[in-house]
Amino acid sequence: MTTILKIDASARGDRSLTRKLSSHFVQQWMEHRPEDVVVERDVGRNPPPPVTEDWIAGVFTPPHDRSEEQNDLIALSDILIAEVAAADIILISTPMYNYGMPSSLKAWFDQVIRINETFSFDLGRGDYPLAPILSGKILVILTSSGEFGFATGGAREHMNHLVPHIKTCSFYLGVESDDCIHHIGIEYQEFRDDRHQRSVDDANNGVVVLVERLVNMA
Ligand SMILES: Cc1cc2nc3c(=O)[nH]c(=O)nc-3n(C[C@H](O)[C@H](O)[C@H](O)COP(=O)(O)O)c2cc1C
Repeated sequence: MTTILKIDASARGDRSLTRKLSSHFVQQWMEHRPEDVVVERDVGRNPPPPVTEDWIAGVFTPPHDRSEEQNDLIALSDILIAEVAAADIILISTPMYNYGMPSSLKAWFDQVIRINETFSFDLGRGDYPLAPILSGKILVILTSSGEFGFATGGAREHMNHLVPHIKTCSFYLGVESDDCIHHIGIEYQEFRDDRHQRSVDDANNGVVVLVERLVNMA
């Protein structure tokens, strides 16, 4: 059985292109493997709170020394981390906002990349003291942007702080290499022209092909 953790980050509801793509992914997946499990975490509609000084103090306090207040403060983080730990596939659908990820998605990463839970820290490792604790995850990133040319070799590749940032962070959630990461993106949303429609069609077709590939590996 495969568990998919579906994270939607758009602030929009029914009009969201990225929500449509992630629903399409799940629908395709379920046609192949209806027995699998999908856990939904909607950070766009219910953004996790930003971390605070008290939250940081809580996660750096050994579990048996934490106060009740500290346990309350990090309770959501515990739940979100358990969802990541249980997932085989992390499916993130997200718009590009100001050339990066929405603050709600960044808040989710801040809640789940946590010392002694998803990564360990050891200065004995030299210049790279952080190491992930989780492993074996597949990451699917579904994006949409108003402009275009953000892919490798594109005119705006240097302005893309969305996909590279998610890739870098996901290493600490057990996504071990680029081979475990799949990205499909819609572009041209703000132009509303044929290029946009082609981009939507390509993304929808890309989801079908990707699901078939991943199902065969599951
Ligand atoms: C607050 C905000 C910031 C945005 N910033 C960018 C941007 O930096 N670059 C870009 O190409 N599009 C940008 N867009 C356009 C969105 O990426 C685009 O509308 C996308 O389709 C939104 O995803 P959704 O359809 O899932 O809601 C922005 C939209 C909003 C609302």
